[in-house]
Amino acid sequence: MQSEIAPHGGKLINAFVTGDAAEALRERAHSMTKIHLADRRLSDLEMIGCGAFSPLDGFMKRADYDNVVVNKRLQNGLPWTIPVTLAVTSDEAEGLEIDSEVALVDKFENILAVLQLEEIYKYDREREARLVYRTTDEAHPGVRNLMRRGDVHLGGKIQVLQERVDQTFKEYRLTPEGTRRAFATRGWKKIVGFQTRNPIHRAHEYITKCALETMDGLLIHPLVGATKDDDIPAETRMECYRVLIDNYYPKDRVLLSVLPAAMRYAGPREAILHAIVRKNYGCTHFIVGRDHAGVGNYYGTFDAQYIFDEFEPQELGITPMMFDHAYYSPTVGAMGTDKTMPEGVEKIALSGTKVRQMLMDGQIPPVEFTRPEIAEVLIAAMRAKQN
Ligand code: ADX
Repeated sequence: MQSEIAPHGGKLINAFVTGDAAEALRERAHSMTKIHLADRRLSDLEMIGCGAFSPLDGFMKRADYDNVVVNKRLQNGLPWTIPVTLAVTSDEAEGLEIDSEVALVDKFENILAVLQLEEIYKYDREREARLVYRTTDEAHPGVRNLMRRGDVHLGGKIQVLQERVDQTFKEYRLTPEGTRRAFATRGWKKIVGFQTRNPIHRAHEYITKCALETMDGLLIHPLVGATKDDDIPAETRMECYRVLIDNYYPKDRVLLSVLPAAMRYAGPREAILHAIVRKNYGCTHFIVGRDHAGVGNYYGTFDAQYIFDEFEPQELGITPMMFDHAYYSPTVGAMGTDKTMPEGVEKIALSGTKVRQMLMDGQIPPVEFTRPEIAEVLIAAMRAKQN
């Protein structure tokens, strides 16, 4: 039995080949041209392979790519806001032929997948930066990655032969089929997904719990693919999530699982992609707070919420749950937002930099900002890194 929400485009993709077909493909793959994948390209391969990027069954060809960049939709009109492409250097593309098969391998030469090479095309990185990231500034981590990618795209369907061998958090790495099964087993019908790339502090806790008040279950779904260097590593964050759930959440109403995607920091456009992907994992609702997937000052605080107005609710198919900026107010003695607090109350406002400094000095930030158990995990991780 599956959870009731339909995947994006109607069908969950599973790009894995098995049995005799896999044997034959693997055999052929040994003599194919090889492209080596790491980090972000590996993450995209995994996301496509397991169906998290349904309806994508491969790396985008030009028509989809152009439509996504310009119109925020696939060629067939389905909402899609961020390109998922296989960018290679001109050197890597040298000698490749249309309608051939290309082996996608990791650094150990494991053949992970085969690409049916349907298109090889040049693209305009500057245009992609301007339209997708709303900036061409290379200080933006997403733009920086984009500018460093190869200048040629390889488009076509993929067939996956094996999981990547460096998968972390295996027991938490549920595929969309896996989370859907878990929701069904628990009898959850209304499920809210929570994207995060940070430890869960009190503001995150508040909005997830507000959401959970009207839902059957909460999927805490941290992104564990590549993030920027100064973000807290996924291993430390996972420890924080486990400790937090153990102490402060109802265990039977929360599922912790990881999202193997890389972070793009594309703010509003990434919020839509994050929502679509969580629909594929079976969520009916998705939390969008302040500065979702943002970085620096490239996006307005609530731009990631406004972008939802550009789509009809039924074409997204997952309901966003929008939250204002949450904080603790000593005046009121509670967490809340300007929507629920009287005017002019005192707010506990700590900048990220200030909190980092406190943790580095071994100081536990105020409980109104973060749970002490989380602070302890973070302090221990910082000490381990210093030694
Ligand atoms: S994100 O890049 O993954 O979006 P983060 O892990 O910080 O970053 O945020 C996770 C979610 O919590 C996002 O939806 C974000 O908008 C929301 N959020 C973070 N802090 C607050 C806050 N103080 N008030 C309201 N929403 C917040």
